[in-house]
Formats: sequence, structure tokens, C-alpha cells
Amino acid sequence: MGASGGLHLRPARDSDRRALWRVHTEAVGTLCQGVYAPDELSTWVRLLRPEGYLRPDRPRTVLVAERDRRLVGFGQLDSLNGELEALYVLPDQVGHGVGSSLLAALESVAWGGGSPQVGLDASLNAEDFYRHRGYVSLHEARRPLTARVQLACVRMQKRRPALPTRRGATTGAPAPI
Ligand SMILES: CC(C)(COP(=O)(O)OP(=O)(O)OC[C@H]1O[C@@H](n2cnc3c(N)ncnc32)[C@H](O)[C@@H]1OP(=O)(O)O)[C@@H](O)C(=O)NCCC(=O)NCCS
Repeated sequence: MGASGGLHLRPARDSDRRALWRVHTEAVGTLCQGVYAPDELSTWVRLLRPEGYLRPDRPRTVLVAERDRRLVGFGQLDSLNGELEALYVLPDQVGHGVGSSLLAALESVAWGGGSPQVGLDASLNAEDFYRHRGYVSLHEARRPLTARVQLACVRMQKRRPALPTRRGATTGAPAPI
């Protein structure tokens, strides 16, 4: 898979489980502060486990981003249902294109597999990030963590871009001879 600015994307492997967990817990614990209450964040982080990633009984497309051989972010797509289930970047790597690169690669997988759309429940802190990448907010939603704790989030969706047609066809203008 491609490299961009020293960034390398590849499919996750079993030996990545612990690094995936570390990225996930650090991203939630640091980047979602201020948006969610401390008890929501601690419940969220406490429920994450290294063995929860790459479960054989739940086939998913999981891509990791590496910089200098360090795993700096990952994203997870349920390709069958066109559902982006996770996108997390290490706090000290935020704002350098890791999330955008992972998202674009997972969207390519979704479109290539025939998904008409990609949907996700966006954390409140990530809504602008997705909006700037073509997603529209549909409605408020809740992600249940426990019977008591439910995270507020936003249901978002992006439709598969129209395939390029014959030159001029999209504008209605005659194709040049
Ligand atoms: C949302 C997230 C995945 C984005 O990853 P990222 O690698 O920072 O994404 P990018 O660098 O491609 O883009 C980040 C955006 O923040 C801006 N930015 C620049 N510097 C920044 C900084 N120091 N801190 C935060 N954002 C910064 C970028 O310009 C870009 O803005 P844009 O949306 O207007 O283009 C990441 O911030 C994250 O892991 N957040 C916490 C977990 C989370 O909420 N995940 C989503 C679950 S639905």
C-alpha cells in the first residue's frame, strides 16, 4: 500500500493487537477530553482490550499507518455493511494527515467492494473532520457502552462518488471531437 510523507499504510496483522489498543486508548483518553465527561472516557477506555481487535469471528478490513516503523494510527471498516467502525491516531501525530490517509484508503476498499455509501457514528470531536471529507451529518445518535453510559455521537454518511463518465457527459456539454 502507498506511502505519503514517510507514512506507510498496510493491513493490520495479529501481532499489531497491542499497538492498536495503545493507539485507541491514547486517542480516546487524550483527544476526546473536553467533549466527553471523565467517567464516560474512563468507561470507554476500560472496555478496550488488545484481544478485541482482529477477532477471527468478526472479519473486518483493518489498516494501520506507520511512520518510521511506529504504528501511529489505524482504521477499521466493516466492508460488508459499509460501516467505518474506528479511526484513531496517536495524539502526538494528529494534524499530519494520518487520519485522512487512512480514511481515503478505507473508502477505496468500500467503493471497490461495491458499497454505495460509508456510514459511521462520529465522536462529537471528529464531526468536522468527517464533514471536511464529504460526510453529511444525518442525526444525533448514542453509542451504548454500558447500561449506564451511552456516548453521544453523530450519525454521518458519505455516498460513493459518481464514476467518471465520458468527457463532457456530467456537464451536459458536448464532448470535444
Ligand atoms: C479524528 C482523527 C482520526 C483525525 O486524524 P488526523 O490524523 O489528525 O487527521 P488529519 O491530520 O488528516 O486532519 C486533521 C484536521 O485537523 C487539523 N489540524 C491541524 N493541526 C492540528 C492539530 N495540531 N491538532 C488537531 N488538528 C489539527 C488539520 O488541518 C485537519 O483539518 P481539516 O479537517 O480542516 O482538514 C484524530 O484526530 C483522532 O484520532 N481523534 C480522536 C479519536 C476520534 O475521535 N476518532 C474518530 C472516531 S469516530
